[in-house]
Formats: sequence, C-alpha cells, structure tokens
Amino acid sequence: MTTRANAPGYLPGFGNHFSTEAVEGALPEGRNSPQRHRLGLYAEQLSGTAFTAPRSENRRSWLYRLRPSAQHPAYQPFAQGKVRSGPFVDAPPSPNRMRWDPLPMPSEPTDWVEGLVTYGGNGDPDAAGGIGIHLYAANRSMIDRVFYCADGELLIVPQAGQQVFVTEMGRLDARPGEIVVIPRGVRFRVECEGEIRGYVCENYGAIFRIPDLGPIGANGLANPRDFETPTAWFEDLDRPTECVQKFGGRLWTTTFAHSPLDVVGWHGNLAPYRYDTAKFNTMGTVSFDHPDPSIFTVLTSPSETAGTANCDFVIFPPRWMVAEDTFRPPWFHRNVMSEFMGLVFGEYDAKEGGFAPGGASLHNCMSGHGPDQASYDKAVKADLKPVKIENTLAFMFESRMPIRTTEWAQTSPTMQLDYDDVWTGFEKGRIG
Ligand SMILES: [Fe+2]
Repeated sequence: MTTRANAPGYLPGFGNHFSTEAVEGALPEGRNSPQRHRLGLYAEQLSGTAFTAPRSENRRSWLYRLRPSAQHPAYQPFAQGKVRSGPFVDAPPSPNRMRWDPLPMPSEPTDWVEGLVTYGGNGDPDAAGGIGIHLYAANRSMIDRVFYCADGELLIVPQAGQQVFVTEMGRLDARPGEIVVIPRGVRFRVECEGEIRGYVCENYGAIFRIPDLGPIGANGLANPRDFETPTAWFEDLDRPTECVQKFGGRLWTTTFAHSPLDVVGWHGNLAPYRYDTAKFNTMGTVSFDHPDPSIFTVLTSPSETAGTANCDFVIFPPRWMVAEDTFRPPWFHRNVMSEFMGLVFGEYDAKEGGFAPGGASLHNCMSGHGPDQASYDKAVKADLKPVKIENTLAFMFESRMPIRTTEWAQTSPTMQLDYDDVWTGFEKGRIG
C-alpha cells in the first residue's frame, strides 16, 4: 500500500493546476482535445463547477483514458441498504440531543459500499445545499466494484484501520488522523486489510475550501502546502466491473466490461486530495476565555449567506490550554448551527466518558448542551497551569440547517437512551 502524491499544493478552494501522467505522452501538449490522441486515449472533461463559474471558483480536470466513460449499459436500482439522502423524511425531525456508541464492525464480509449507514443530514442534493452524514464499517476490499457519488463530494474521515482510496485520478492511502476528499463524480474503490471504520460528510453544496484567515494573517490553521493530490495511476483490466453510484438519493448499479479506473493521465484543478490533521496549525487563546470552535475550521463549504456555512469541517486536535481565570472546556451553549460530532481517537475534553472513538453525537439547532457534570466539576476546580491535551482527535460537521436523523439512527441499539442524564444534578446558582 503506497501513496504517490503530486507536490503538495493549494487545492482546496482556489484551484492549483496539476498535470500528471502514468505513461509518457498521455497528456497532449498545447491542447485539451486533439483531433487524434497520439496514444489513442479518449479525452474527457470532468466539470466540478458550471462551465461559467468565475475563474476563482471554476474547477475542472481533463482525463485521458483507455475507454470513454460513456461505454456502459443502463443503470438499474441497487440495494439501498442503510443509505438515505436528502430530503431526509423517513423519520420525524427530533430536537433531542443524541449520542451513539461506536458503529459495530460487521460480522459478515462487508465492503465499503455495503457498510455505509446514514445517520442523518439536511437539505437536498437537487437543491444543491445541505449534507448527508454517513458512517461506514467494513472488513473487506471492494472487489471488481467501484463507487461514485453524483449527489455531492465526499469528505471521508477514517477512524479505524488503514484504507486505500483507489480513484480514477490516482491512489490515496489514509489512516486515522488523515482525511480524504473525493470530488463529486470521481469513481473509486476502497481497499483494506482487515476492519476499517470512518465517517463521511456528503456535501451537496459548494465545494469545500480552506477558510479565509482574516486577522490571523497569511499563515495558520490548515496550510495550503499540506494538501496532497494523487499522481495518475490506472489499471488495464478487461473483466466485468460493477459501478455503483448515488444519484438522486438512490443507489444505482451497472457493469462495465472493464475497469473504469483507466485514466492514464490528467490535468486540471479538480482532484481528490488528502490532508493529515497532524499538520493543522492550531490557534487558541493566550490570555483568557474559550474561543469559538470556528478557530479550528479545516475546510468550509460556504452558503450564499456570508459567514454561514453549508458545512464546516472542524477538528479538536492536540493543543495547549493556557487560558487564565477561564472555564477551559466549551461552556454551555445553544447554537443556530447544528453540530454533528465524531471521535477518531482519544477523549474529548467536554465529555470524559460515553463519547467513544467511532461513536457520534448530535446537538441540533438551539439545543442546549455543554460539559457533563464530571467535566464541569473538574474544570471549575482545575489548577490553571498550562496543560497539553494530547492523543485526541474529535471533529465536527457543523451545518447552517438542522440535521434530521434517519429512522435507523433514531432506533439503533447504539443510541444512548440516557444521554440527557449527563446534564442532570447541577446545583443551582447561589444568589442569596
Ligand atoms: Fe457545541
């Protein structure tokens, strides 16, 4: 399992241009679609934005492949399993705070597609806004099968096991602590050696990009140089390969007579990428008070309302806590944005038990939440010396729209029915 990566670059948001070929001569010189390709490859433009999107937003790549993508029979419905999609209407929306134990590893042979479980989401892919939130647990590689999502780009957060994303545009391996983003439409399979688990944010809205830094300045948070795109890689396999896609909220399948992972070279500014969260330059207070978690934003999918994201991807990585005269964990809060959290490893500082790696929690629009009793008691008594929070990685998909949970998520045996109890028992404030 190896990764070959382009020079790291400034992909998320504003479009570096990459050029890569696995065979010399795969990339035509001087034109995108020559009359005759010198190797007989087929040119294909993959557009991730409208043709007419402003240059600063425009994302497209040219692929040069062994056979046209169009060469396949009609798609047929595929077993939907536990995959759901916006509009999320299979269960009534719930205002309740929710938390789930880790998604169990499968007991039967299960690949990445078969192991997808939708917890909830919002919006509608047809309206180009909102997100779908899925987890996956699998124990075997996808064999003679690829997948792509026509409904949104996929931000994947591996939580357990080494996993390799073999895409049309190259290979990216990823371990817990790294993330992988696969553009809408890009076909891939997931390979593994043993059990894997992780989280997926399916982004129906604007493509993820690194956030503006404002007064922080030109450096900090996720630095552009640390995003890695793959080099061209292809396979020349003349054997039936199933292609499963998500389109219009449904899963569909067809069978190619060959592997569609046959792109010999590509150039452009639309590509899958990987980011190692250990390279995140974490900012925080050096005086007092608890900054809003937006200071930890890795990627954002903006909406048409300035500063109000369709989705922010926020991490809570290892960091120093030095604030004086301050309750250092997150205080109680109610938020117009809705917060879905996961834990890759370690322990989250506002919850010392019950929120386990591979688990999840949801604090929906305006639902009150914050530290549990044990975390509160510890924080108010803490000796406020500098402390380093280590060996932990929690994250949040934060969205402008309430998150509607699926029927599966609301009735799963992994749901912690006593979650509300973590906020019982607080003493009344003393005003007398
Ligand atoms: Fe919160």
